Amino acid sequence: MSGRATAVRQTVPSSIVSLADHESHARTVLDENAWAYFAGGAADEITLRANRSAWDALQLVPRVLQPLAGGHTRLQLLGRTLAHPILLAPVAYQKLAHPDGEIATAHAAAALGAGMVLSTQASVPLEAVARIVLADAGRGPLWFQLYLQHDRGFTRELVQRAEQAGYEALVLTVDAPTSGARDRERRAGFRLPPGITAVNLAGLPPVPAEALQAGQSALFDGLLRQNPTWADVEWLQSVTRLPVLIKGVLHEDDARQAARLGLAGIIVSNHGGRTLDTTISTACALPDIVQAVHGSLPVLVDGGIRRGTDVLKAIALGATAVLAGRPCVFGLANAGAVGVAHVLRLLRDELEIAMALCACAELHQVSSALLRQKPGAGT
Ligand code: FNR
Ligand code: LAC
Repeated sequence: MSGRATAVRQTVPSSIVSLADHESHARTVLDENAWAYFAGGAADEITLRANRSAWDALQLVPRVLQPLAGGHTRLQLLGRTLAHPILLAPVAYQKLAHPDGEIATAHAAAALGAGMVLSTQASVPLEAVARIVLADAGRGPLWFQLYLQHDRGFTRELVQRAEQAGYEALVLTVDAPTSGARDRERRAGFRLPPGITAVNLAGLPPVPAEALQAGQSALFDGLLRQNPTWADVEWLQSVTRLPVLIKGVLHEDDARQAARLGLAGIIVSNHGGRTLDTTISTACALPDIVQAVHGSLPVLVDGGIRRGTDVLKAIALGATAVLAGRPCVFGLANAGAVGVAHVLRLLRDELEIAMALCACAELHQVSSALLRQKPGAGT
């Protein structure tokens, strides 16, 4: 972590005291191109907004006067004890936010004991991130997010690289076989600046070009000619020794299918509102998915988590843990590793405060008995 550009952005201004403050400050730090990429969602951004408003629409009905001494945020997940239930969601191309990119994010995640999920489209080598995280005794889990590539041989090698580097689980993202209609990016004329690439996909053979016949779809007969299906999930399970979580599930039937296949976990997600617009918010989808799999595998959730109370509400609805995407990138833009660490610290501190004020000393005491849907809230 050196270099002039880094040196100017390594402290968090004292006026930043919340994740929302990080976001508004990042707006002043990032250029239009990067802002459109990180902050934007698909189409009219209805889902992007709904993810936030759905957490807000859940009202807390706190308990009082329970003993709190010795309280903590620890939990068990995939055979490990985690210090707290906050993980960093996979976010691509983090060098666009800060020259240190995912390297800085990894330092912060490890220092704060937060699980780190590295994107397939990371802008630094997956081995470099693993070395940083694995060197820290207080670290959280280290997972690799996988996009199945059209070339299965390449995908398999990528999985082997992640295994060899020490990643402990694969997070298979299934909600983005194609990009959403990214209107905000198109308006901004978004493009990746020179020098920022998906370095872990270097050497991926191009999708074999086949001339489309008249009347064929460039999407269905082109890019998606060999799109991943459930059969490929089973293939992935057969070629890796790592547990596989599936990210991007909103429908109960898909959750049941994931449970039937023996997957290690489900991440309820709509990709932060970046793929299909007008989907159900994740806070609204979560309870039905939890019910559908009735404890047979852990259910995690992301999308719009910006407050410790949001984390508490997710746990109350049955999530084992949550992931945060954009807030970490905004912290990164504002102050590199220090900024990401600050975001994680804020979220964790707020979670502890929320637990204390709901009279819950431990996460297993956080239940749906603490929640009411705000009357008339249509999310
Ligand atoms: C993402 N997300 C994402 N997901 C994934 O599986 N692989 C990826 O490479 C990316 N890349 C990515 C880039 C950017 C800029 C964003 C904002 C998001 C989705 C991400 O993991 C997560 O689902 C959402 O970001 C969660 O919503 P919040 O916390 O950003 O509201
Ligand atoms: C995105 C892709 C990389 O959301 O998942 O930008």
